[in-house]
Amino acid sequence: MEVITVPTAPFHDQRPGTSGLRKKVQQFQQPNYLENFIQSIFDSQRELQDGSLVVGGDGRFYNRQALQIIIRMAAANGVKKLLVGQSGILSTPAVSCIIRKYRLNGGIILSASHNPGGPEGDFGVKFNAGNGGPAPAQVTEAIYQESLNISRYRIMDAVDDIDLDRLGNGTMGNMQWEVIDPVSDYLELMERLFDFDRIASQLQSSRFRMIYDAMNAVTGPYAVAIFNRRLRAPTGSLQDCTPLEDFGGLHPDPNLEYAQKLVNIMFGDRSPDFGAASDGDGDRNMILGRRFFVTPSDSVAILAANAHLIPGYRQGLAGLARSMPTSAALDRVADKLGISCYETPTGWKFFGDLLDAGKVSICGEESFGTSSSHIREKDGLWAVLFWLNILAVTGKSVQETVESHWKEFGRNYYTRHDYEGIDPDAAHGLMEYLRSTFPSLPGNRYGSYAVEQADDFSYLDPFDGSVTEHQGIRIIFAGGSRIVFRLSGTGTQGATLRVYIEKYEDKTGSLFEEAQQALAELIAIADRLAGIRGKTGRDRPSVIT
Ligand code: G1P
Ligand code: ZN
Repeated sequence: MEVITVPTAPFHDQRPGTSGLRKKVQQFQQPNYLENFIQSIFDSQRELQDGSLVVGGDGRFYNRQALQIIIRMAAANGVKKLLVGQSGILSTPAVSCIIRKYRLNGGIILSASHNPGGPEGDFGVKFNAGNGGPAPAQVTEAIYQESLNISRYRIMDAVDDIDLDRLGNGTMGNMQWEVIDPVSDYLELMERLFDFDRIASQLQSSRFRMIYDAMNAVTGPYAVAIFNRRLRAPTGSLQDCTPLEDFGGLHPDPNLEYAQKLVNIMFGDRSPDFGAASDGDGDRNMILGRRFFVTPSDSVAILAANAHLIPGYRQGLAGLARSMPTSAALDRVADKLGISCYETPTGWKFFGDLLDAGKVSICGEESFGTSSSHIREKDGLWAVLFWLNILAVTGKSVQETVESHWKEFGRNYYTRHDYEGIDPDAAHGLMEYLRSTFPSLPGNRYGSYAVEQADDFSYLDPFDGSVTEHQGIRIIFAGGSRIVFRLSGTGTQGATLRVYIEKYEDKTGSLFEEAQQALAELIAIADRLAGIRGKTGRDRPSVIT
């Protein structure tokens, strides 16, 4: 068994996006494509030499083959200790938990999150640093720069594949490896945060029914271990809990569009009291009540407002944070608690140093991502358990919980309209058009809305002093309503325009309208300001959440 050095040449498209390097499976299967990117990680992250690493993925097509390559490259690049999830499975939040618990130098997660899988689908590689969080921009940029200059990679020659399906350990060259249970460390952390006894008695009572949908993706084994084995939820509380390489043909994204099966149950006759789903790699969540959808922006605000009911958060919250396009519902909770609410660019990595500095306890994004300082990733099952713990303590329904929140804080009506797979030139043209016109908008009035402020969001990181610019055009109206335009950084085909629309109604206002209706005037203003229909050729969004 020896280390071999294989000559290679750069690919020029390995710059990571909002969340790692994400490409079509076929692109990753090209000779040297995966190897180049992995070698660029080892070349730029020197602490991995003689260091420790955890690897795993969401179980999608090419996960197992890619893991065997990465394991052989880790051994060849001097990694001393490597942990790998059994069957190649590790959710994104579990990787974060494991890095932190065992003080590892980093982790590699194989996932394209909620993007479809299978031979025709997407694949992805994310690198997480020693704090357990997604690599910050300087790190992903350093990896990219290495990838542009790469001329060789290192891999162990002629070694047998590790048996990923059996727990066990061994050595490869100088590296010690161990196949670990993907669930146990994560479960132990959840047990420290939540009142499992209380949740268990609620789940076992005949007056409460839940359904959790893993969408044939990574959270299946976690949900079986937590809900069935540990909390003894009745059979029928879980669906689609076996991770499949193509997610059973699903787009494993927990929203009203893609989680159809769950939505039909929750909006059908005799629906359960609580419904939830998670995405491909387990970091997203959707929360539903009986015939009731909780917007992610409301969800994170409600968790923060009720955190005093939860054992792990009873001692109080240091601060809150949300991504810029997320609604300001969380800001109102922060005001009431007398703590700060930070506003960061889209992408979980921006929460990392706020969490590391102890400034933030709970944070979230409108894109179905919520989490806390317990790890450095968003965490789908954590949000589900948090909700279940609140409901078990208060005895209220999901709808009552949300409506009483609005009655106390007012309501931020919210929707996101996505125009997927549009022509990149048209998308960039639209953003350029907005960039050239927003400075003249303040002072203008459109129907009942007067523009108060308009800008291209830029973020000054309070800790490392870095500035991240061009994070979305914000048009802010008097009274707290907003329209935000930005382009997705995670797509693999064409461009995706995201339009975020928010209207604030204070607690004395009209709180119980249907969201698209309440937002209709602002939706029309968004089209008028950006010329969406004309410039994209689309007369309606492809996804509305
Ligand atoms: C999307 C979401 C963003 C999230 C990211 C990774 O990024 O909008 O909030 O952090 O996926 O899950 P986008 O495609 O908008 O760049
Ligand atoms: Zn995800």
